[in-house]
Amino acid sequence: MKGPDVSWEQAARARAFDLVHRGTPGDVAFYRHVCAGAEAVLELGCGSGRILVELARAGLAVTGLDLDAARLERARAELQREGCTGARLVHGDMTRLALGERYDRVLIPYNALCALADDRAVLDCLRGAARHLRPGGSVWFDVYAVEDSLMDEPHGDAGDEEELELILSAVDAQGRVDVWEREHQHADPRRIDLIYRYELGGQAGEPTRAVDEIISHLLLPPVRLRALLAEAGLRIHQEYGDFDPAPLTEESPAFIVGAQREDA
Ligand SMILES: C[S@@+](CC[C@H](N)C(=O)[O-])C[C@H]1O[C@@H](n2cnc3c(N)ncnc32)[C@H](O)[C@@H]1O
Repeated sequence: MKGPDVSWEQAARARAFDLVHRGTPGDVAFYRHVCAGAEAVLELGCGSGRILVELARAGLAVTGLDLDAARLERARAELQREGCTGARLVHGDMTRLALGERYDRVLIPYNALCALADDRAVLDCLRGAARHLRPGGSVWFDVYAVEDSLMDEPHGDAGDEEELELILSAVDAQGRVDVWEREHQHADPRRIDLIYRYELGGQAGEPTRAVDEIISHLLLPPVRLRALLAEAGLRIHQEYGDFDPAPLTEESPAFIVGAQREDA
C-alpha cells in the first residue's frame, strides 16, 4: 500500500499513541487463538498493526483497515520489516465497509468500537462486519467493561483548568517522548475525552516539539452492545471478561465477544 502523505504532526501523534497504547495483557495471544483455522482475517481499526502483524507472521492472509494514515504507515513499515508481503492495508472508515471480499474472522480489538461517534456508527460497523463474513465466520471484539449506571452522569474532572499530568517518558528509535494527559468532562455522559500533549525530542541537538491530540471514547456497556449486535443480525456465541479467558463478572476489566451471523 502506498498511503496518502503523512505530515510530521500526524506521524508524531501515531508514534506517541503507540507508546501509550500497548494493548491489554493476553490480547494478542487471544486473537491469534480465535483465528486458528481461519484463512482470511480482517482487522477493523488495526492502527499500527500491533495485532495484525502477529497474525500475518502466523501465516494468515490479513487485511487491516484504519482511518488514520499515519498509523497505517507504521503498520506498513512493520509488515515490510517482518517480510509479510501478502498483507493488505486499507485506508478507510469501518462504519462504511465495502471491501469486495469476505473473511473467516473480522476482528475489532482494543476498544476500537469506542472510537466511534455513537450507537448508530457502532451499528453500521457491526452490520458491515456481518456482511463481510464468510459462511461459518465470526466477529470478535473487546471493549472496556462499563456498567450501564455509569451513563447517568458526566465523567472526568470538571475543570478545563485541570493540569496535564505526565504519564509517560520514553525513548524510542527516534528519540525522547514525554506524554502528558488529562481527562476532560464531556457534556454527553456516554463519552470520556482524554487530552494529550506529546513532547518529542529529536535526534541530538534538535529542539523538542509539542503536538496535541484529543481521544474521545464512547462508553459501550454490555447491555447496549448485546442489543446492537442483535440489531446487526449477529448472535453472540462467546462472552468473556478477560483474556485468560475468564467469564464476564461485575469486576471484569473488559467485555470480549465472539459473534456469528444469525443466518449462519
Ligand atoms: C485503540 S486503537 C486500536 C488499534 C489496534 N487494533 C490495536 O489493537 O492496537 C483504535 C483504532 O481505531 C481507528 N479508528 C477509529 N475510528 C475509525 C473508523 N471510523 N474507521 C476505521 N478506523 C478507525 C483509530 O485510528 C485507531 O487506530
